Amino acid sequence: MAANYKNWVPKGMIAGLSCATGVLAACTAGTALFGKKLDPRIRTAAVAVAGVGTAACSAALAWSVMAHKKFSYDGSRQLSREIVDEVAAYVYLPKDGKGLDVGCGSGALTIACAKRNPQGTFIGIDRWGKEYASFNRELCEQNSEEEDVDNVSFEQGDAVKLDFPDEYFDAVTSNYVYHNINGVNKQELLHETLRVLKKGGCFVIHDIMSNGRYGDMEQFAEKLRSEGYERVELITTDNGMFMTKSEAKILGLSGSKILLGVK
Ligand SMILES: C[S@@+](CC[C@H](N)C(=O)[O-])C[C@H]1O[C@@H](n2cnc3c(N)ncnc32)[C@H](O)[C@@H]1O
Repeated sequence: MAANYKNWVPKGMIAGLSCATGVLAACTAGTALFGKKLDPRIRTAAVAVAGVGTAACSAALAWSVMAHKKFSYDGSRQLSREIVDEVAAYVYLPKDGKGLDVGCGSGALTIACAKRNPQGTFIGIDRWGKEYASFNRELCEQNSEEEDVDNVSFEQGDAVKLDFPDEYFDAVTSNYVYHNINGVNKQELLHETLRVLKKGGCFVIHDIMSNGRYGDMEQFAEKLRSEGYERVELITTDNGMFMTKSEAKILGLSGSKILLGVK
């Protein structure tokens, strides 16, 4: 069997939206055709509400089918695979070094980093909550077995408070995780990730680092440089590097950037 990294837009979401669209469409048609006993104003309002709900659900369904295809590891676009491979290409470990992948999902980036760095080991941690229900630790372990990669391990953990001491890892990485975490300052999340990185270790963080989500990231990068971090760069990935501007917009990935450097 081959590794199955699943999809950032899971099939369950598409199934749920298909059901909701079907039910709402049936309610719209049913009320319009058979609701003659209802007060005409109530009937019109009910048809209008169910109709708007049907339109909204079908739009969400169309978007999720399109995004699922783009992110699929088997499809013609394979955007997730491309992003994961290119982020992993920046991550390096010294001999016997330890790397951390925060929010590893189905293990794709952890495994890609481990393959490129057989001289060290990688730990992938994830909250594995309800919002990405198809991702779990067992799936990560199966995927590493399928890929024949044994320098990885996976643990439950929270990006907000990492369960590791200061300066524990030789490299830290993450892909499209922090924008999911509501109610927490994104720059504080970055500091928490950098806390567990050793001096001299590399960091490679890819996410939707739009101003609205993260604040001024140029200023953040400058602050890291002033604190002694080296080779700090912010690389825009939504302008042709990983995807076109319009593709990023459609997929809700505008503002995607890699923050990288050495502590
Ligand atoms: C879009 S997926 C990306 C998964 C993986 N990094 C990849 O590139 O395939 C986002 C992941 O972030 C994880 N996540 C969200 N909030 C988290 C938190 N507070 N701590 C750890 N992981 C979290 C989710 O469980 C999910 O697996």
